[in-house]
Amino acid sequence: MEEAIVRKKKIFSGIQPSGELTLGSYMGAIRNWNALQSEYDCVYCIVDLHAITVRQDPAQLRRRCLTQLAQYVACGLDPEKCILFIQSHVPEHTELSWILGCYTQFGELSRMTQFKQKSQQHADNITAGLFTYPVLMASDILLYQADAVPVGADQKQHVELCRDIAQRFNGVYGDVFTLPEPLIPQVGARIMSLSNPANKMSKSEPDGCVNLLDKPEDIRRKFKRAVTDSETVVRFDPESKPGVSNLLTIYAAATGKTITDAETEFVAGGYGNFKAAVGDAVIELFRPIREESERLLSDKAYLEGLYRLGAERAHVIAQKTLRKVHKKLGFLPR
Ligand code: TRP
Repeated sequence: MEEAIVRKKKIFSGIQPSGELTLGSYMGAIRNWNALQSEYDCVYCIVDLHAITVRQDPAQLRRRCLTQLAQYVACGLDPEKCILFIQSHVPEHTELSWILGCYTQFGELSRMTQFKQKSQQHADNITAGLFTYPVLMASDILLYQADAVPVGADQKQHVELCRDIAQRFNGVYGDVFTLPEPLIPQVGARIMSLSNPANKMSKSEPDGCVNLLDKPEDIRRKFKRAVTDSETVVRFDPESKPGVSNLLTIYAAATGKTITDAETEFVAGGYGNFKAAVGDAVIELFRPIREESERLLSDKAYLEGLYRLGAERAHVIAQKTLRKVHKKLGFLPR
């Protein structure tokens, strides 16, 4: 009988341990990652090498990496189904990054929107690392031969550059790398700041940002103070009612209801009730995640075992790709 070998598609993604995981990272990324893990071979990374493109406090970085791993698991990422690891534990990432840097144009990196923004924000510290960061990201993706990369819209340009680099390399040396596609979640997954709904939810606006590990009373307070508008009607209209629409998006995502159902639910009752209900929905959504994260964090040995195993499994795949690259380039085998 003919054997049908159906290769599962591969997924790679990562989040920087540069802050607490937020409602935004949950709705926009991790929830998605969760859904992908049964259908694909998934590799999910904590990209600490990326985080140091801006200065980090060492003790905080260490704590955040471990917390982020606990949170990955508490959110439902299953270490039996996917590979969970810490980027700096697999040296192939930086090794391939050097090589790919030799196949990336200065002009291409200069055109990266995020580089232009960040170098304005950190005008006194524009490092080579900030500049070459997309090359490291390309290495992350290409080492695992990922077919698809779930990322926010802000990272699409980096995945496209990765594709260009891979294509260029393949053009010279044959089929070495799989060309990855960005996997951008639908618009509803973009969560905005509660205090300034024109901006994406981010740690730089702490009052408008809900963290996965926030205590219920803090979540309640943040939603109570959420910026809305001077009307009183709960209606989805991101253009003229960004605050209310963001809250509706959050409520729908947290409860699994549709936006339309949510609108109907809050026709009467005013903004006060509405904001409280959204807060409660998020509190209930995060309660089991927070409790499980705390439980896992009290078992450091388990988490250490987990990231060691993750790094070993990642290393096996990464090494295979890097060997192939070395051979193609003409490096003598060790
Ligand atoms: N640059 C991404 C961000 O800031 C994080 C990241 C690093 C990443 N390497 C990656 C995402 C590889 C997807 C794939 O959000």
